[in-house]
Formats: sequence, C-alpha cells, structure tokens
Amino acid sequence: MNRFVKIVIRITMFLYKMKSINSLVHILLLNLAFFFFSCSRISVDVGPPIDLVVSEGFINPIGFYNAEPTFSWKLPVAGNIKSQSAYRLVVASKPELLPNKADFWDSGKVKSDQSVWVNYKGVPLDSRQKVYWKVMFWDQNNNTSEWSEVARFELGLLTNSEWNAEWIGLPSQKKLEKTKAGFYFHRPQYLRKEFRLTDEIEQARLYITAKGVFEAQLNGQKVGNDIMTPGWTPFKKRIETLTYDVTNQIATGDNAIGIILAEGWHSGRIAYERSHREPKPIMRALCQLEVKYVNGSIETIYSDDSWQGTRNGPIRFAGIYDGEEYDANLEMQGWSKPGFDENGWESVVQEVVNPEVNLVPKRHAPVRDKMELEAQKITLPEPDKLIFDFGQNMVGVPMINLPVRKGQVLKIRFAEMLQQNGKLYTDNYREARSTDYYIPKENGFITWKPKFTFHGFRYVELTGFDSDAIPDRSWVKGIVQYSDFEDAGEFSSSDEKLNRLQSNIKWGLRGNFFDIPTDCPQRDERMGWTGDAQVFAPTSILNCNVHAFWASWLQSMREEQLADGGIPIVIPSNRSYKPSAGWSDAATIIPWEIYMRTGDKSILEENYRMMKDWVTYYKLAFKSREEKLKPLGDWLQPLSKNPVDDKMGETSIELIETAYLAHSINMTYKTAKVLGYPADATNLKVLRDSVRHVFENEFFDINGRLVTDFETQTAYLMALAFELVSKEMAEKIVPHLLRTIHQVDDHLRTGFLGTPLLAPTLDKFGQADLMYKILFKETYPSWFYSINQGATTMWERWNSYSHTEGFGDAGMNSFNHYAYGAIGQWFYEGIAGIIPLEPGYKRILIAPTPGKQLVFANAEYNSVYGKIESNWKKRGLGLELEVTIPPNTKAEVVIPVKQRMNLLMDEEEFEDNSNVRMIDKSANKITLDVLPGKYNFKTLQR
Ligand code: BGC
Repeated sequence: MNRFVKIVIRITMFLYKMKSINSLVHILLLNLAFFFFSCSRISVDVGPPIDLVVSEGFINPIGFYNAEPTFSWKLPVAGNIKSQSAYRLVVASKPELLPNKADFWDSGKVKSDQSVWVNYKGVPLDSRQKVYWKVMFWDQNNNTSEWSEVARFELGLLTNSEWNAEWIGLPSQKKLEKTKAGFYFHRPQYLRKEFRLTDEIEQARLYITAKGVFEAQLNGQKVGNDIMTPGWTPFKKRIETLTYDVTNQIATGDNAIGIILAEGWHSGRIAYERSHREPKPIMRALCQLEVKYVNGSIETIYSDDSWQGTRNGPIRFAGIYDGEEYDANLEMQGWSKPGFDENGWESVVQEVVNPEVNLVPKRHAPVRDKMELEAQKITLPEPDKLIFDFGQNMVGVPMINLPVRKGQVLKIRFAEMLQQNGKLYTDNYREARSTDYYIPKENGFITWKPKFTFHGFRYVELTGFDSDAIPDRSWVKGIVQYSDFEDAGEFSSSDEKLNRLQSNIKWGLRGNFFDIPTDCPQRDERMGWTGDAQVFAPTSILNCNVHAFWASWLQSMREEQLADGGIPIVIPSNRSYKPSAGWSDAATIIPWEIYMRTGDKSILEENYRMMKDWVTYYKLAFKSREEKLKPLGDWLQPLSKNPVDDKMGETSIELIETAYLAHSINMTYKTAKVLGYPADATNLKVLRDSVRHVFENEFFDINGRLVTDFETQTAYLMALAFELVSKEMAEKIVPHLLRTIHQVDDHLRTGFLGTPLLAPTLDKFGQADLMYKILFKETYPSWFYSINQGATTMWERWNSYSHTEGFGDAGMNSFNHYAYGAIGQWFYEGIAGIIPLEPGYKRILIAPTPGKQLVFANAEYNSVYGKIESNWKKRGLGLELEVTIPPNTKAEVVIPVKQRMNLLMDEEEFEDNSNVRMIDKSANKITLDVLPGKYNFKTLQR
C-alpha cells in the first residue's frame, strides 16, 4: 500500500479514537484531501507495457527454441510517456505466481532504459517448460506503470536426448521410379498408428519432424496450419522439429495418428546438384505424442516399428520443382482415424536418431497460407485450355474448386508470363516441370489444393475440366504462401509507378522468403543464393518482420561454413561451388544490418566466430584468388561487354574482391567493437586499413580515375559506399562516378552488387536529385522500364521481357528475383529519411529528401520501440512533415528549408518547448532535437 494512504489511515484512526467534534471535521477534511490526492495519482498513472515478445519477436510461442531468451516490450503511446527510467521483470512457472512469488526470476527494480533484448537471468530452463512473465516500468518522471498482461512461452524438445522415438518410414523401393524427365523420385508415404488413451486428458503435445516434408493428422484432422515443414536446414547437421498443442484433437478412448511424407528439400532433386540424376536419401518421420493425464501421469506415443505404412495413397507424386499428382480413386477414407482397415499396409522400418544431427525446435515461423488471390480474368487461348490470370506474379499453390469428369485428368500448369498468342510461357522454368494433376474418382465438383509443392506463377492453365460447364473465375484461387511473418513497414507516394515498384518489391519478398531466402521461386533453382540475400536484406527488414527468418538462415550458414572458413555461395549448400566475393560476404553483412535495425546484439554474438573465420579464409584466398574464389562479378550488369562472360559484368573481379574483403573486415571490426573484443578490433582495423590502401593504390590513378579495363559505375560506387578511399580521393572519385552516369543519359549500368549502392552513395554525396532521375527513368535499363513492360514483381534482368524484343534468354530469366528490389531501402531511408542513428532506432534520424518528381511520400516502420513515421507533403514552396517518434527513443529531425521561411509546429510559430528543441539552422535545413510523440511541422514562405 502507498505510504501516504497508510499515514492517512493512521491519523484517521487516531482522530476517531479522540472522538472530538473538531476531530470529526478533521477526519472529513483529511479524507477529502486523500480523495483528491488519489484522483491526482490516477491522472499520472501510466498504462502497462505492451507487445511483449521473446527473442527475435516471438509472441507466446509453443515449442520455443531458446532456453536463454531475451525479453522485449514497448512502452504505451499515451499521455506524456517519453522514456523508461527503470523496469521490473518477473518470470514464473505459473501465472498465479506473478508478480511477487516469481519462482524463475525477479529482476527487481532495474534502473535502466533498456526495454528490448533484456537477457533472461533466472533459473536454467529445460525442454517442455512453460514460462510466464510480465513486466512493469517507471517512466521519465518515476511514475510507475501498471503491470503488463502475462505473456508466456513453452520450450520445445531442446536436445536429441529428449527423443526416445525412432525415425520411421517404408523401406526403400527395390527399383526406384523415375519421372518422365528421367529423375528418380520417392513416392509419398502414408504412415499410421492407433492408440488408446485410458484417462482424462489435461494436455497433449505433438513433437514431430521429418527427413522430407510432412503433414500430420490426428483422428482425421490436420495438425496445425503449417506448410512444407520442417523446412530447409543443413540436414546433415540440424533438422528442425515442430511442436503442436493437440489437446483438442485427441480424446480418452481410441485415437489414431497419421503422417504423410513427401520428398521436400531433403529427399527431392533440389537436395543436390540438380543436373545429377542419382537417387536421393528416402524420407523418414519422427514424432512423440506426449499426453498428460489430469492425474499427472504421462503417456507417450512414439514413432517406431509398430506403425504401418503405404505408398498407395492418393498423392502419387510431390516434388518442389515438378508439382503434385493426386489420384482421388486412391483416397483412403478415415485412414488417420481409429478403426481403419489396414489391409494392404506394411510395417515400417525404424532407424535410430543419429546423435550427430541436432534435433532442435524450429527457430522461425513455418510457411503458411498467407493470402488468397482471386483470378482477375479467364481466357481460352485454345479450346479446352482455360487460363486464369491472377494479375500478380505470386508464389504458392492453386485452390481448385471446379467440376470434373471421371476418366479425364485435370492438368494444372503454371506460368509467370504469357506468350504473344496468349499461351503460357514456361521456357524460363527450365527443367522444373511445375505441373499438378488431379485424377477424379467421379463426376462433380472437387475442392483440392496441393500439399507438398509450390509454384511461382501469375497464370494457371487448366485442361481436363468438365467442358460442359461454363468456366468461372471462382474455379481457381491463388493461395499465396510464405514464411509466416507480418509486415513491418509501409511506403507510398504521389507517384503511381513508384508505388507499383514498392508493391513489386514486397511481392518479391513474399515470393522468395519460403523458409529460406531464395533467388527465385519458380525454375529448377529456388536456392539460398547468398549474394542476392545480402543485397536485399536491409530492404526486407524495413518491409517485414524477418528478424527470426534471417537469424535462422544465418545458423544454417554457420553450419555450412567450411573448415577453412569459406562460406558457400548457396545456403543450405547443395552445390560444391567455391566462395565468392559479394556472395559469401553475406556472413558479415547480414548480421550487421540486422543489428543496426533491431539493436539485438545476440545476432552479432551468434555470428562473430563465423565472420572472423570468413575474413581469415578471404585474406588467404585473396592471395591465390582464382583457386579459392569463384568469380561472379557484378552479376547481370546490363549491356556488359565482358569478353569472358557478359553475365559477370564489366567491373574488375580483382577490384570487387578487394572491395568486399575490406568491407567484410570492416563489418567484423565494428562487431568486435560492439561485443567488446578490443584486441580483435585493433587487428581488424589494421587489416582493413591495409586492404583499403591496396584498393586505393591499385585501382585508381591520382585523379581518382579507374585504371581497370572497364570504367564502371559499380567500381566507383564500391569505393565510395564502402569508404575504401581517403576523403580527398573520394572527392576526386565523385565526378568520375557522375560522368559514368551522365554519359549514359543518367541511366544505371549496375548489376546485382552495384545497384544497391547507387542510392545511398549518391544521396551521401549530395546527389539525391540525380538518384531521383535514375529512379524515374522509363527507358532501359531502369526499374520503371520493367514496370512499363508489365512487371508485377522484381525481375532477374531489367529486360527479362520487353514489348519490342520479347523474352530474354530463357536460361536465366526469372520474373521473381528480389535482388534489384534492394532500392526499397532508399524509399524508407532516403525519400522518407528514417534512419537508425543508434542500433535498433534507439536514436532516430528523420531527414526526408523530397524530390521534384514527388508531391508527397509517406513511410512508417514498426521498430522494436514502436511505430516511426515520416510523412511529407509539398505545400506551395514549403513542406509539411508529420513525424511520429516512439517512446523510449530520441530523434533528430532535419527539415529542408529555403531562405526566408518560417517553421510552424502543430500550426503555431515554432519555439523551443519541452519536446522539441532547435539545435541547428542553416540556409537549407533546420535540425531539431525531438522527444517521443507525434508532431506536425510546416515550413512557410515569409
Ligand atoms: C541465381 C542468382 C545467383 C547467381 C550467381 C543464379 O543462377 O539465380 O540469383 O546469385 O546464379 O551465380
């Protein structure tokens, strides 16, 4: 109880005992005073912290991977809350123990403004543990907040020793079957077991995974809503496991569990060199269904050789590249329910859990159905061939709902583009067959969706439907699937094409974040190309909550790192390529980019060793380049005249290798400083500076001009973007960069590596106007050029298709390749000007860059502290700027002005106030120090 209340009660009691009339008046007065005091207390009461998450943004996870999590919360946006001065965090095994009997951890009052990434320091936690926590804070005036709501997490099975089950599946077929294209394949397997539960059930958890991909069913019902689990990790090192709360899917009495197994990434031809046609390892399932009875006892159903299996189920074939085939005649009604007749099923074989392969809970959200697209129109380019146009290139599967006839096979083909004659263009799928089949068992309407494949498409072609029926747009829906994260940012502007580009970038992200970051989602590739990933990572973080997604993929990268420190250029690594500059550097760049935008040091801690080892490899490889580094160059630079291979662009390979070596060392150096390794930092700095020295002296003359065979925009950009040259030299280089741009009529001539550097570099050197020009170019090569040719997502090449020239070389012609979407970073950080001055946006810079091509631009980004907004609009000669700064951060807002301009804040002439202070005013900008809140600034001509 508040001390003041106690005193009031005591005095009241005393006066009451005195029983004098006078005293009664006193009592009345005192109680009146107390009433007003309490009212005034209410008015300063502070709302509870909100949005409680653990580790990389998990909300109340089950089957959580991390026994040493971090805790994050947001301060409420209300009243006058500016910052946190202290917090108290309590963690317990039961919600009723919170706050004062917390048995796991009570942080006590910690005087700190840290509201994100607070390390757990309580008792060690074990597999299956349920953990409840809540938090309160003290604001800048030491007002206490209410307690937050209780958040929770439940750990999965953290180590192999928790697994008593065996891997199970049908024995390999004596003679493996081949697809028409000559690839071996494994037929999907159906596995089942019946079991009896004898008592009243309190809770049930299904721990499960597969070599291959699986769907589990309990008593005829699918478990969870995940797709293609467990996803793609380096299977020889780590297989992720899933945990499901299945309490409501089982009951006392007879039950049955079923598992469907398909090839997925583990056993399909994507697993290894795609050109190699030898059989892949067969699929296996592993599960433990742990049932806790109300009486406290536990019963576990394991995967073991008591299960039965068959290959004669309706899914005849399912492969990532090739599609799925379903024969409804083979449906097995009730196969995952108790009482099913197992006649014709065989016993499964069991294999022990290999201690070398870590079984760990999945550390980011699985792929799920995320959106449903309606067909925009249907066409019949040939009789009986019906094409559905979804108006948007997307990734996922079709949902079929249409009339069929027994005896006909429904064939479903996909394409990203149409040919001139209105038929599908599928050459660019290369050797991916990407076709689904449905064989009906009777006439009538069917509803069907493939389970174990995905396609990259805008168009769906149907043949074999009931041709007597009148085709309808509702027959096919596009189910958009990607790893289950939410949007983090939004950008829009007054320009329709720029908005289309933003949309294309987001669709590129949705289409290629399919459990791992892929280069493209449609052809016989769909792999984790590291170069594409590193250039797109910052843009992805600004658009979506992909922190956990990247952290997980970086774990795969650590596991795939070679003994000598080399980083494969595809992760998980299914190729034997050598490391490459600009690709393998994803190892140093992505952790740093994530750290800057989240402030989460654990991403640096986890990856520091890998970064250092990569630098060590690189340093040595650098000396014997050819043998240890695969040259990829400024991949797909347009109009390249490189005589060796035009795909590698014209920028000198040596220059790129030197630039990225220095850049990777620099990222590792900065990481060493953050993590507190001063000796490492000193060594890395010396090394970085020596490579910078080589760079400046080897590739430029004293006037800052390139001395390599080709003079390229990318080479100049690297020098400036990665700060590889002295200030004086940088000043000399800038005019050369500008010349290489002007001499091609302000067009870009950059590939995968150069393009992301254009905007930040030109902006940094005061050339934002030129960047706007390049961005708004309508002619080849440019972003808008692809849009003018009909792009609804990012293309692999600027001219993957053109109205005049048709399709590019089908060998490398993806219409969903996110790399050039890296420009999206500048929409947030340049045009809207939202930049983290300190990691995680603890200090924010809002410095918009209004270009003459735009009337307004709006951007918001949901940072770990809350929503940051920068919306600007031109008003006459002035500018209106709306800014939102979340609690517990600080901001510097830079407003562009012209001479003789006044500044208004919230419609009043600006004066320094408790929230905003002017710290600088020059001829062309005003700089303000801004505390959290929402503000409206206007500049007006005097
Ligand atoms: C991929 C690219 C990748 C490149 C490197 C291509 O096949 O699609 O995006 O980065 O190879 O060689």
